[in-house]
Amino acid sequence: METSPRKWVAGQEMSKLETIKNAWLLTNGDRIEDFGKMEDLPTDLQYKDHINAHGRMVFPSFADSHTHLVYASSREIEYIDKIKGLSYEEIAKRGGGILNSAKKMADASIDELVEQALVRLNTIAEYGTGAVEIKSGYGLNTASEIKMLRAIKQLKEHTPIQIKSNFLGAHAVPAEYKGKQEKYVDLVINEMLPQVAEEGLADFVDVFCDKGFFTVKETERILEAAAKYGLVPKIHANELDYSGGIQVGVKYGALSVDHLEFTGKEEMEVLKTSGTMPTILPGAAFFLNMVYAPAREMMEAGLPVALASDFNPGSAPSGNMQLIMSMGSILYRMTPEEVINATTINTAYAMGLSQDLGSICKGKRANFYITKEIPTYEYMPYSFGDNKVDRVILNGEVWK
Ligand code: NIG
Ligand code: FE
Repeated sequence: METSPRKWVAGQEMSKLETIKNAWLLTNGDRIEDFGKMEDLPTDLQYKDHINAHGRMVFPSFADSHTHLVYASSREIEYIDKIKGLSYEEIAKRGGGILNSAKKMADASIDELVEQALVRLNTIAEYGTGAVEIKSGYGLNTASEIKMLRAIKQLKEHTPIQIKSNFLGAHAVPAEYKGKQEKYVDLVINEMLPQVAEEGLADFVDVFCDKGFFTVKETERILEAAAKYGLVPKIHANELDYSGGIQVGVKYGALSVDHLEFTGKEEMEVLKTSGTMPTILPGAAFFLNMVYAPAREMMEAGLPVALASDFNPGSAPSGNMQLIMSMGSILYRMTPEEVINATTINTAYAMGLSQDLGSICKGKRANFYITKEIPTYEYMPYSFGDNKVDRVILNGEVWK
C-alpha cells in the first residue's frame, strides 16, 4: 500500500513494499476510501457488506503497459520454425512475423477482432490485470490500422479494465514498400496520423526503432509529427541491437521505452535524465531466447524498472502478469518486492496512470484482487504457472 501517491518507484526504493497484516479495506464507488489494521476497524464498519479475505492477500491489480492483444490469428507455425533455429529477424525477413499478422488482419472484421480480444481481456483479468495498453500495428495500411484502433476503442466500452490505446503504424514495413521504406513513413505521417488524431483513436504513438525495422531518423520524423497532435511516445527500443531507440525516445519525452535487451552505460545515463520508464518484457525475451535486459544494473543506477507482458501472437503469446513476475525474479534476479512494484505502480506510470492506479492508496481507483490462501507475498512470484488470484474487484465492483 501507499500512504500518498508516488509517480513511480526507482532504484533502491524498488525493494521496499509497505504492507499491513490482518487488514481491512473500504471502497466507495469506484474509489479506495480507506484501509487499516483490523484491530483499528471503526465500529460503524463492522457490520457493512464485506468480503472475508481471511488467510488471503489483497494486491493492487497489475497494470500491463505493453500489449498487442488485438490480433486476428495466432502464429504457432512460426513457433515451430523458431524451435528449429530460425531467429526473429530471419522469420520476419521471410514475410513471417508481423507481416503474417498483417495479412490476417486485412481479412478480419471489427466485430471479430473485438470478440477475440474480449476473450483475451477476460483471461488477463482473471490473472489479476486491471489496466492494459493495447497497440495497433498489425494493420500496416491506413484502413487496417484504423480498424484495429476502432476495435480498441470499442473494447474500452465493453470491459471494466482500463485501456490505453497506442498507434503503432511503424511496426514493420509492409511487403509492397520493401526498398521504399521512406514512402511508408510518409504514409504513416501524412495519412494515418491525421486520421488517428481526428477520430481521437490513440492515447500514445509507438515506433519499432530497431535493427531491420525503423531507423532513428524515421522515428524522429514520426515522433515530431505525432507531437503536433499531442501524442506522447512509447517506443519499442533496443531489442535487437544498440539501436539509438532509447535515446530518441528520451529526446521526445517518451513515457516509456520498452524491451531494452541492448542497454549499456550510455543508454542508462540518458535514461537517468528523463521521465521515461525503462520497461522490460520478459515474456518476449524468454520466448525468443534473447539476452536479458540488465534489470539489476538499471536499478543499481537508481533507475525505475517496469515489467510488462508484450502479449502478442508472435513473440509473447501470454498476458499472464503473474508469470511475468516469476520471470522477473528468475531470469532477471529481481526480488519479489521489486517485481511487484515493477508490474503495478511502475507499469501504471508507463501508461500515464500512476496517479489513479498501481497501488492500494486512498483516493485511487478500487482495482485490486484477492488471492487464494497463500502464505506470504513472496509466494506470488515463487509459485510460477498457477493462478493465485481468487476474487477480482474492478472500479469498486466485484468482477469475479
Ligand atoms: O513487441 N518487437 C516488436 N513487436 C512485437 C512483436 C510482434 C510480433 O511478432 O507480432 C514485440 O515483441
Ligand atoms: Fe511489443
